[in-house]
This record gives sequence, structure tokens and C-alpha cells, in this order.
Amino acid sequence: MCGIIGILSDEPVALRLVEALRRLEYRGYDSAGVATLEAGGVTRVRAPGKLINLDDKVRAARLESGVGVGHTRWATHGEANEINAHPHASGRVAIVHNGIIENFRDLRLALEARGRRFDTQTDSETIAHLIDEGLTEGLTPRDALLRAVRQLKGAYALAVIVEGEEDLMMGARQGSPLVIGVGRGEMFLGSDALAVGPFTSQVIYLEEGDACVLHRGSRSIFNTAGEEVQRPVTQIDAIAAAVDKGNYRHFMLKEIHEQPDSASRTIAAYVDAIEETVGLPDRPGGGAIDLAKVDRVQIVACGTAYYAGLAAAYWFERIARVPATADIASEFRYRSPVLSPTTLCLFVSQSGETADTRAALDLCRSQGLTTAAVVNVPTSSIAREVDAVFPTLAGTEIGVASTKAFTAQLCALLSVAIALGRHRGAVSRDRERAFARSMMERPRLLSETLKLEAETADIAIDLSRARDVLYLGRGVFYPMALEGALKLKEISYIHAEGYASGELKHGPIALVDDATPVIMVAPADELLDKSLSNLEEVATRRGKVILISTADGVTSAGPSPARTLVVPDCDPLLAPILAVVPLQLLAYAVAVEKGADVDQPRNLAKSVTVE
Ligand code: F6R
Repeated sequence: MCGIIGILSDEPVALRLVEALRRLEYRGYDSAGVATLEAGGVTRVRAPGKLINLDDKVRAARLESGVGVGHTRWATHGEANEINAHPHASGRVAIVHNGIIENFRDLRLALEARGRRFDTQTDSETIAHLIDEGLTEGLTPRDALLRAVRQLKGAYALAVIVEGEEDLMMGARQGSPLVIGVGRGEMFLGSDALAVGPFTSQVIYLEEGDACVLHRGSRSIFNTAGEEVQRPVTQIDAIAAAVDKGNYRHFMLKEIHEQPDSASRTIAAYVDAIEETVGLPDRPGGGAIDLAKVDRVQIVACGTAYYAGLAAAYWFERIARVPATADIASEFRYRSPVLSPTTLCLFVSQSGETADTRAALDLCRSQGLTTAAVVNVPTSSIAREVDAVFPTLAGTEIGVASTKAFTAQLCALLSVAIALGRHRGAVSRDRERAFARSMMERPRLLSETLKLEAETADIAIDLSRARDVLYLGRGVFYPMALEGALKLKEISYIHAEGYASGELKHGPIALVDDATPVIMVAPADELLDKSLSNLEEVATRRGKVILISTADGVTSAGPSPARTLVVPDCDPLLAPILAVVPLQLLAYAVAVEKGADVDQPRNLAKSVTVE
């Protein structure tokens, strides 16, 4: 999780860069750094640890330049030391980066074979080399940037400066957000509006795949095809910038679109991209659990967080081969649970304040059990009370209907299951490596999945007329069906129920008719044939099925589904993280179609602190 700032001005920028980084420190504080163009050359000042270390060094350096970039780092690739601190430089280029470059190993090998020498262990340095290589071949800075980003696979937000180009700053984004701040004779780049808010109230939210070329008095934005495009300027006020909707109509939609970034940040806390290992975070509060003592996992949570826990119970059993159960917090504490001292009690909560979950935690603590929490608010009560925190780094979630926190919970829980499996010998080194690679692909695949937005909006027109909707899923997709149903009912007020696909014939099939849409979540896995038999059972009773599956699954389903939504192909165990996205988009589009108050649905609260 990193923060990015860039400033192009007539005045010296170094201290303003540090000031902006102070507002971004919440995104990470493993190291920080700035780069400016002093007397035409790239000058970098970097420091490990908190920003205060950088502040002193920047003051001492007396930097004069009017162009510079800054970064505050949450370490992903490479140790949290000064060498790995951003900005990274190569030849004439300095860059700051937020995200994960999945194919950096291949790119780095190719660059090294072409004679380039690397100084750091980071994925980000690759980007500086790619751009500089273009410049040395005679490309313009713009073309060098566009050619470089075309080679990147993964998620990135970038700010770039180039030696000898005093009136130039460039940016690009894919999967991670980036905004342009438009000032009076000044330009800014920031990883969010909060970064540039104090300098200007005019911001431009770059769209997926956009790149920009900024001069003090002008700007050009290019789409993935390299065509110049216009993006609207939005007026923000400084306070609102902290919680602003950007270009989006609702926070929920913004948060759905933030998922490549929030997943990327969360995964980076667990996956070491260089070693290709998956482990528990070794940060303060992260790791006080002795995995050797865990022979059972008891997950406890409410609502959406409970569905993340239910999916995790499948993962703990399948991947770590450890018995696991998920319980609704409000039921758990009153059923006098019998728990052994070797049980890990794992609480899942976005807010970390949910009263039912806290009460269940109290019960486990009173029995002297080992407790841990997957939690999004690090300062929350639950985070403070458990033995170990497994963080989700989703950032603030404003929409009452949880979306990005849910996928971040899935990423964290899956990581914990893999780490436990590795510890217990249930996951081989090769399998761990494969998991690490698949995890690192999530941000890109989430971006791909978000392209279903227009199709879901089209399906939502019919769906919004339904009185009842059924959701079906098998195995690890069953909790996704439950989550899809919850999303629909809480924001559109349409009655919806989630069922395990195999359970349909035991009763709920009586509800199937041509007026009750059935949404089936069935990406191709070893249970696909069984799910498709259930689909036939619905279709023969004139039920209209909307099938969410991979391309293979859709082909196997033939003509029976009324509509299909194709999610990217991937390891089926990790597919829930993608499959839930069309469910979120569908619920959102139906609610908008019905004119409902998406971000503040009736009767609900974001944090439920009463039992
Ligand atoms: C639904 C939703 C709720 C929460 C539940 C638990 O969209 O957000 O179901 O998941 O109230 O809240 P946390 O995760 O804060 O404990």
C-alpha cells in the first residue's frame, strides 16, 4: 500500500512533496522518498522508516527544483530499506509506483540481458529501466512511457520525471488509482484526491489504462490505444477529498472499482513476490500466533464478513487440511460452543467494532483461547483485543453495502489458509509458489472482471422488475451466492435467497417459475457438471438462469442459461474473489434502476455496535 505525489511548479517543490506524503503516510511507512531535477539531473533523497526521517534529510538537502515526485512505501517486493525505497531511477528517469508488476521477473531478465544493471530488489525499478531504455533509443518521453506501460502486466499507478525535461511530469494507471490535480500554472499527480486536495480543488480522475503528459500550463491524456482523450475536471473541497466519490455516482460503485487496488495492497501484506511465498504479516500486531499449535479453526463474523469466513472454512479444509467451521457471531456465543485449546478463533470484521463479533471474541478470550482477527480498521476494538491481527488493506469503506472489504477479506483469509497449509505440510513449496503467482494475478483479473459493468447494467433492467431472486452456488461458490443475495436485498429491497445448488431440489425448487430469476455462480471447477445439472433442473421448469462462469463453463452450459456473464479463467480455488464482482455490480445496477439510496440503504448502519 503506497502513496504517490508529484508536483510540477515554478516554486521549489521538495517540502510540499513531504507535506503531501504526511497525508499519505496512512498508506504505508516502511520508507519514504522524493526525487527532483536539480541542475537538470535526477536527485533522490530517501529514508527508511517513518516520514520524519525523510523530512530531516530533505531539509538538509536544500532542493530547489520545481518538479519532483514523492512516495511513501508499504513494502511488497524487497526489504524495507533505503535502497528499495522509491523513487527508483534509471539513467534519465525517476519513477514512483503503487501496485504490483506481475511479470517483473521476465522483464528484468530481458533488461539485464540487454545490459541494464539493477540496484534494487523491487518490481518497480523495472519500470524506470523500460522508460529510460525508450529514451536512449530516441523515443520521446511520452512514447517511451506508452511503450513501457504496454509491457507491464499487473497493477500500477505511476508518476515519472525525466532529466533534462524541467517542464514535464508523466503518469499512468492500471488497477491502482491516480488523479491529476490542476492548479494555477501548476500540475499535480496523486494516488488519491486527498494527496492533492490542499494544493488544488480541480482534479481529474484517470481511467483504467490512461497515461498522462503534464506541463505547467497544459495536459494531455491518452487511453490504452494511445489516443488522446478528454477526462472531466471535478471540483472537490479539501475536506470532502478525504471521503470523495471521485467520478462515481455512488461510493459503492467507487469501492467496487477500487478492488484491484485494495486487493493488491492486501495481497502485498501476505505474499512475498520475490520469494513467491505466502506468510502471515510480520508487522507489529501481525504475527503472534504459533501455527504449530493450531489444529482447528473456528471463524466467527456477521453478514458479509461471515460469508467471507464461510468461504475461508472451505479453504482451510481444502488447502490446509485443518478442520474449520464458520459461525454467525450472534448465534455462536449462545450455543455454548465446545472449543479445544488448540483451536484458533478467527474473527472477521471490516469495522472491528461489530457488537456481536466483539461479544463472541470476549467469550473466546474468557476461555483463554488463541484469537486472531481479519480486520480493516487497525485501531478498532477487535484489532486491539485479539492476539494477532491479519490486516485487510481495503482503505476506508463508506458505502454501507460492503464490497472492497469483502474481497480484501477473501484475499487475507486465503493467504492465512495457505500459510497454515504450508506450515502443516499440506501445501508443498511448488504449490505455495503457484498460489503466490495466482494471488499476484488477482488485481489484474479483478480489473478484467470489472469490464462486465455494462452487461450487468443491461441484465439489471429485467432483474429490477423481479419480486424474488434465487442465488445458487456449490462449494466455495455457495458463500458467494449468499453474498450476492445479501447485496441485492440490502440495497434494492428485492427479496433474494442464496442456496447451495444441490439443496435446490430439497424444497426451494418449488419457487422456480418464469418470474423468478435464478443467478447461478459456477466458474469451471470439478463440480461444474453437477452445477450444470442443477441449471437444467431450473431451465426445464421455465426458470430464467443468469449464469456467472468462466468461458469453459458457459460453453458447457450450452443454450440453457437465459444470460451469461463470463469471468476470467483462473485457479478455481481463487475464483470466488472474481466471481463476486458481477454479483456486486448486478446488485448496484438493480438498486440504481429502482432509484434506491445505494450508499445509505434504509434501516441499515455501516457499523452495528449493538447486539
Ligand atoms: C453487508 C454488510 C454487513 C457487514 C456486517 C459486519 O453489506 O456490510 O453485513 O458485513 O454488519 O460488519 P463488520 O464487517 O464491520 O463486522
